[in-house]
Amino acid sequence: MPTTEFSKPASGRPILGIETSCDETGVALLRWEPGAPGRGLLAHTLYSQIKLHADYGGVVPELASRDHVRKLLPLIREATAEAGLRVQDLGGVAYTAGPGLVGALLVGASVGRALAWALGVPAVGVHHMEGHLLAPLLEDDPPQPPFVALLVSGGHSLLVEVEAIGQYTILGDTLDDAAGEAFDKTAKMMGLPYPGGPALAKLAERGHAGACRFSRPMTDRPGLDFSFSGLKTQVLLAWQASDHGEQTRADIARAFEEAIIDTLIIKCRRALEASGTARLVIAGGVGANRRLRSELAAVAAKDGFRVYFPRLDFCTDNGAMIALAGAIRLAGGQHQDETVQVRPRWDLQSLPAA
Ligand code: KG4
Ligand code: ZN
Repeated sequence: MPTTEFSKPASGRPILGIETSCDETGVALLRWEPGAPGRGLLAHTLYSQIKLHADYGGVVPELASRDHVRKLLPLIREATAEAGLRVQDLGGVAYTAGPGLVGALLVGASVGRALAWALGVPAVGVHHMEGHLLAPLLEDDPPQPPFVALLVSGGHSLLVEVEAIGQYTILGDTLDDAAGEAFDKTAKMMGLPYPGGPALAKLAERGHAGACRFSRPMTDRPGLDFSFSGLKTQVLLAWQASDHGEQTRADIARAFEEAIIDTLIIKCRRALEASGTARLVIAGGVGANRRLRSELAAVAAKDGFRVYFPRLDFCTDNGAMIALAGAIRLAGGQHQDETVQVRPRWDLQSLPAA
């Protein structure tokens, strides 16, 4: 397999990254630093809409779009000030063009595209999951392709073989709920506040190991696809049959979390074996799960592979990962024409090589 070294020419000037695909407005400034992309991160800011959507128990797309409109320009001003720059110093603009909520995407794309046009610099639309996938490159000692990536977010559970940046083969996908979605729906079912994933993980810390057990879906047969909706049903039945006590709730949360984590780890090991690499990248919101991180680190030490995680803030949605993915593509000469285009659905495998 070919490898990609991070040795593309530096544009020298910072790239603005804009993330507005769902319920976080993320902005970052990054100067492309071949070999050590994290060193080029000049500023990053994030505004989370959690409070706005909490009363509804989930993201309300129209409210999300309107809030991105309110927050994006102030955040761009804040990030440029933090980096000691003016927008006129930008060398390019990267914005999330998909997948995601169409209205929310359009806010970032319109602002990003207009700003680039006004400044006379190139703009590039970034695939949100490529942003997640590349986020671990912002850390010290970044992974070099080829590697396998487990992308676990609210909308996706993907195992991806990364031959080079932009050359992605999907090895496994979810047949129904994504891992983050399963966390969120299960949490909601058990009366936990939105967003459910972190709340359920916190509750699981107080659960007793082995008090309750759920199956590890689709691990009893070969293959790398996931299915988490049956697990959700198992939890529902256990919850309905329980005394609804606090300890039982924590025990169920713990068993659910263990079932998801075990399943993800079993499939990661299979994917590493299938692809013949010993490097595993974890990214996406569920990558912030502490038990997943510690159990994977232990398995990696035992099996002899290396696992790379982004820092916790860069597991969930953020502008830095979009600035990075955009900077790589801009450095490779890729950019958009002057129309504003978003892709609410977008196959990761259809991306061109970077
Ligand atoms: O990547 P992300 O920020 O947004 C999407 O692209 O979807 O992922 C959000 C997902 C949510 O489902 C959230 O509940 C989940 O990541 N999540 C977690 C944790 N932190 C966030 N799931 C489990 N444990 C966590 N600590
Ligand atoms: Zn995301």
